[in-house]
Amino acid sequence: MRATARAHPNIALIKYWGKRDSVRNLPAAGSISATLGDLWTSMTVDLDESLQADVLAVNGRGRADLLPRVARCLDDVLGTSRAAARVASRANFPIAAGIASSASAFAALVVAADAAGGGRRSTAELASLAGRASGSAARSLCGGFVELQPADGDVTVTSLRPASGWPLRVVIAVTDAGPKAVGSTEAMEISRATSPFYARWLEQQADDLAAARAAIAARDFSGLATVAEHNCLKMHSVMWSSRPPIVYWNGVTLDCMRAVRELRSEGSDVFFTIDAGPQVKAFCAAADEARVHAALAAVAGVTDVLVSGLGEAAVPIDDA
Ligand code: PMV
Repeated sequence: MRATARAHPNIALIKYWGKRDSVRNLPAAGSISATLGDLWTSMTVDLDESLQADVLAVNGRGRADLLPRVARCLDDVLGTSRAAARVASRANFPIAAGIASSASAFAALVVAADAAGGGRRSTAELASLAGRASGSAARSLCGGFVELQPADGDVTVTSLRPASGWPLRVVIAVTDAGPKAVGSTEAMEISRATSPFYARWLEQQADDLAAARAAIAARDFSGLATVAEHNCLKMHSVMWSSRPPIVYWNGVTLDCMRAVRELRSEGSDVFFTIDAGPQVKAFCAAADEARVHAALAAVAGVTDVLVSGLGEAAVPIDDA
């Protein structure tokens, strides 16, 4: 009745921003991401009949504040008549700072909970359950390049290309490791309700998805760079044009974007993307990784630089 799973965060190339159903947590449009290999969350779920209530520790510290969302996810996987659970998670990267830690956490949680309960569910079912807790978490059920589509009141995830099929590198410039001011669920709802650009953003998503799909199939770096940066900047334009405005960037974020564009103009294969936080994620070819790392580390105000390859699906692991 105890199991551990490991999952990796994923970074969206074509972003998810907005829900069609906030009760079921269904995205309004599709998205495409890449799963990271070197950053991970491990999650242990220990179902214990003698326990009065669920308990949660994150990196060794009790986190009652995060428990309700975790307990709801456990109920979704195991049913509400389940035993109480001792849940322990560990991550090897900063959490709640816009590096997709909720994606790896909930992907690992559904896999561990299912394994602790006997391991009955398919990847498709687990992706759907992870997506209820965090929309982007569904994508971490698969490795490599992954597409998520809303379909018939649910989501489907498809692996577009394995990590080994295009081994890009991701260099993450941390500009502020503190927790974000406004969570993505609340921020998406503000955008849906108030941004004059929201409808147009959704209308164009199918074209951006098609362009990214084609670039990934052809290993066309510059095609992917163009559509991914454009899609990222459109998402942030929707955020900025919301009322109240949602601005996740700081000055260092902009300096990192400029550094990435300079490298590209000098011939490096690199592009940036930014999520609901101020960190800049630079996707690059392996041959350009050292140059990208050095350029981002040299930007004043960058507090840390993390590097990762692309990686694999969420899986149960031996926690002995
Ligand atoms: O899954 P959530 O609720 O953490 O939202 C993720 C939103 C973005 O990271 C900004 C975009 C994405 O597609 O991952």
